Amino acid sequence: MRHLMSPLDFSIEELDKLFDLAADIEANPAKYAHACAGKKLATCFYEPSTRTRLSFESAMYNLGGNVLGFSDAGSSSAAKGESVSDTIRMISCYADICAMRHHKEGAPMVAATKSSIPVINAGDGGHQHPTQTLTDLLTIRSIKGRLNNFTIGLCGDLKFGRTAHSLIHALSRYANIRFIFISPEELKVPEYITEMLREENIPFEEVTKLESVMPELDILYMTRVQRERFFNEEDYVRLKDFYILNKEKMELAKDDMIILHPLPRVNEISVEVDDDPRARYFQQVQYGVYVRMALLLTLLEIEV
Ligand code: NCD
Repeated sequence: MRHLMSPLDFSIEELDKLFDLAADIEANPAKYAHACAGKKLATCFYEPSTRTRLSFESAMYNLGGNVLGFSDAGSSSAAKGESVSDTIRMISCYADICAMRHHKEGAPMVAATKSSIPVINAGDGGHQHPTQTLTDLLTIRSIKGRLNNFTIGLCGDLKFGRTAHSLIHALSRYANIRFIFISPEELKVPEYITEMLREENIPFEEVTKLESVMPELDILYMTRVQRERFFNEEDYVRLKDFYILNKEKMELAKDDMIILHPLPRVNEISVEVDDDPRARYFQQVQYGVYVRMALLLTLLEIEV
């Protein structure tokens, strides 16, 4: 039995297979419409989410399966003091697979050790968010046709943003990737990540100004400032509008650059950018459903 905790749990070859499956799902959705008939997905979300939870649920319904679960800790037995280890043992009796989001780093991993069904980490604190990364990689692969030879800029809250952490880890395995980290001083990428890049000899730069690097980018990954992970509101208010991507800044970008964003967006991308053909963040949401469908089939070992 296999779980998904980190984007590195799959080898590059396994990822290729997963993305091929997602592409086939996109091309032939009817072929998969009953693939998970009789199967149940539990979505155990201890932290608010709309996109990820609904994306998982939509993925399971598209496969003809069913969904049960809870969408905040307050409405689950966690409010009564139940541990994730006990919760997952119970969920294992109710469902065939579980997607878990938790505000504590490592909670889905703890659950996985006690689970008799596959557990998917749907985001753990400021740590990792592997299914968002699968979404990001599938989006890049589908639009650009490759996952190597890029300069990618990641912009915003690179300290607390788990989607950025997971994406950096995942992309660092592909050839000829250059990272440009664009953040205020206080929200820089954690050191354990820059250390990993140094060890692996992967080129990266850290800058504070978006405009100065815009012309170099093949991909711009925007992120919101993670309000809920700040220790005080004042710092959040000071940093929240540090970057606002608008039409003017887009003029500095390459014609074939793509903008991605895990969403939700707050102010960091002005709505006037949404009509720019390079803005791909809503298309990215659709790829998130295909890749989660492919993941559910893979972890449930269902072949169509
Ligand atoms: C992200 C998350 O939860 O980390 N959202 C998502 O899953 N689509 C990004 C965010 O909350 O900013």
